[in-house]
Amino acid sequence: MIDQDTINKITETARIEEVVGDFVTLKKRGSSLIGNCPFHNEKTPSFHVSVAKGIYKCFGCGKGGDSVHFIMDHEKYSYPEALKFLANKYNIEVEEIVQSPQNIEAQNARESLYIVSEYAANYFANELWTGEDGRAIGLSYFKERGFREDILKKFQLGYSPDAWDTLIQSAVGAGHKEEYLEKTGLAIRNDKGRLYDRFRGRVLFPIHNFTGRIIGFGGRTLKTDKNVPKYVNSPESDIYHKSNVLYGLYHAKKAIRDADNCYLVEGYADVLAVHQAGIENVVASSGTSLTTEQIRLIGRFSENVTILYDGDAAGIKASLRGLDMILEEGLNVKVVLFPDGHDPDSYMHHVGSGEFKKYIENNRKDFILYKAGILLKEAGTDPIKRAGIIRDIVESIAKIPDDIKASVFIRECSGLLQVEERILLSELNKIRAAKFKKTSGGNQPQTSQYQQNPYQQDGPPDNLFENPGEVAAPVEQVETTDHNLIQEREIIRLLLAFGHELVTWDKIDNMYIGSFIIQNLADVTFEDEICKLIIDTYREEIENGHLPVASQFIKNEDRRIVDLAITLSTSPYSLSENWENKHNIYVRDESVNLKATIFGGLYHLKKNKIGKMLTDITKELASETDPVNQEILMQRHIMIKGVERDISKYLGTVILK
Ligand code: UTP
Ligand code: MN
Repeated sequence: MIDQDTINKITETARIEEVVGDFVTLKKRGSSLIGNCPFHNEKTPSFHVSVAKGIYKCFGCGKGGDSVHFIMDHEKYSYPEALKFLANKYNIEVEEIVQSPQNIEAQNARESLYIVSEYAANYFANELWTGEDGRAIGLSYFKERGFREDILKKFQLGYSPDAWDTLIQSAVGAGHKEEYLEKTGLAIRNDKGRLYDRFRGRVLFPIHNFTGRIIGFGGRTLKTDKNVPKYVNSPESDIYHKSNVLYGLYHAKKAIRDADNCYLVEGYADVLAVHQAGIENVVASSGTSLTTEQIRLIGRFSENVTILYDGDAAGIKASLRGLDMILEEGLNVKVVLFPDGHDPDSYMHHVGSGEFKKYIENNRKDFILYKAGILLKEAGTDPIKRAGIIRDIVESIAKIPDDIKASVFIRECSGLLQVEERILLSELNKIRAAKFKKTSGGNQPQTSQYQQNPYQQDGPPDNLFENPGEVAAPVEQVETTDHNLIQEREIIRLLLAFGHELVTWDKIDNMYIGSFIIQNLADVTFEDEICKLIIDTYREEIENGHLPVASQFIKNEDRRIVDLAITLSTSPYSLSENWENKHNIYVRDESVNLKATIFGGLYHLKKNKIGKMLTDITKELASETDPVNQEILMQRHIMIKGVERDISKYLGTVILK
């Protein structure tokens, strides 16, 4: 439990654009920042960050929240874990209220894995720099390979002594539990129940997640014995999922964003070498073949990937298919080959960092053209082989989601393959058509969201609002056609948007809209649980002399309140200036005619509630046999009917401009 003051301090300090910006590349668009959503796969950005409101919202998958929720969703943290993460980022001291032991246990299980991994990294680094064997064997090995000390330190490289359980002894001695050593794979238990170190007599490459925490290790042997595996790696664990980790990403992410390009290499050593050459935007898929998750991870930082290959022809051919996967994710792929069987690491040390940099810059080729080149060379003049290649190349091009890019490649390949553009295009369309059938449905056009809008589906409640959906636009999540729910939510939206505006209308003099709405709802009971929660809180606070602010619902521990508050306080219209032009939607500025908006909201809700009351009374009347009660019910019916008439008259005659 973290005390409320600290929570407030954290949520006030943790600026949404900074917190999200650590994980998503944001570009300015109108009054908000947009980027590709990290929570679902997309190629056109629909992830919006509103700096003013301190919130994010994805109009594609619907995820939204404040800084704390972003960290919760992204890192799969609990609420207190996310708060602690942010407190740590902003150097805020966390005052904790005493917790129950079970709580601590549950929360700390994952945390303990991180902690023991960090302990191990420090232990190994210490061995490398100060241990006798570490210096004589480990450090001298790295130096022989030409790695500078600052690079070794930056990547926290280490050495594990060639003994059975030195790490275990040291860690347990320092108070770490064997359980966590085992769960991270740092220790292995044999059949006889004896625990021993996984890494023995190896140099170690700690693997960081992209927030910089250590989640695993790669350990390289120093022996030349062919029977010893070259690398021993940490196994999968609760904190290490290999398929979505890229070695070096933590150290590279800023540079990737700045350079708008990510170099992709094969090995740990290559990452180090390229860094040492002064190129910091480099990552490795580390052992596993490249996964879609890893590609998407890169895609969050840049659309451009440059693969640095070992110059081995067979290997290159084998990897061509894998690269199509990158195209499919919408990234642009370039390749650089190294001469004479060099890999990036050996080539860098061979020619030096200056030459290396120049080489990379001058030798990058576009992947598709490069692929066409090697396949053509292979096919020679054989017409059947050439036809096969054409299809193969067009298949790669068909993977590119962006039509303009694809057509540029078609043009270039038409020259290269000596085939008319028209023929390549028709081939491309055939492949796409087949693909589309397979994944029938495909991507829905953006505009479909608006067709789902309940306001637009049902039409406006009556002719007074030309189309409230255009203004309100609680686009998704409000998947209801229930008028009552829509109207209850509209009231909440008005409270959140305009509660703090002072107005003077007719008999009302200088009153907050928030108070005005609450006053006018004295006779209304909300049915929706979440709306009711918000209304009750709002009312209670007003009664205590305090006018609630929208952000307190957005920064609420109750996720249901947060989701609703965000859906209601964001809309594509308020977030993006271009929306209007792009979609030819006329957006009415409702603040210009606030009175009509507020009255409209209140009256529509009341009219709906009254309609329900009348139905209930009619039902009761039908089953009521006592004449006195019947009379009372009839009187109420007449009275309520009168109110309904007044409201209808108001709604029907007043022009809400
Ligand atoms: P390499 O054999 O190219 O290793 O494998 P490297 O990183 O260039 O190492 P040096 O230069 O010989 O020191 C590329 C990557 O494949 C994984 C490692 O992630 C390695 O960095 N690998 C390789 C393993 O996981 N296990 C192995 O036995 C070999
Ligand atoms: Mn190597």
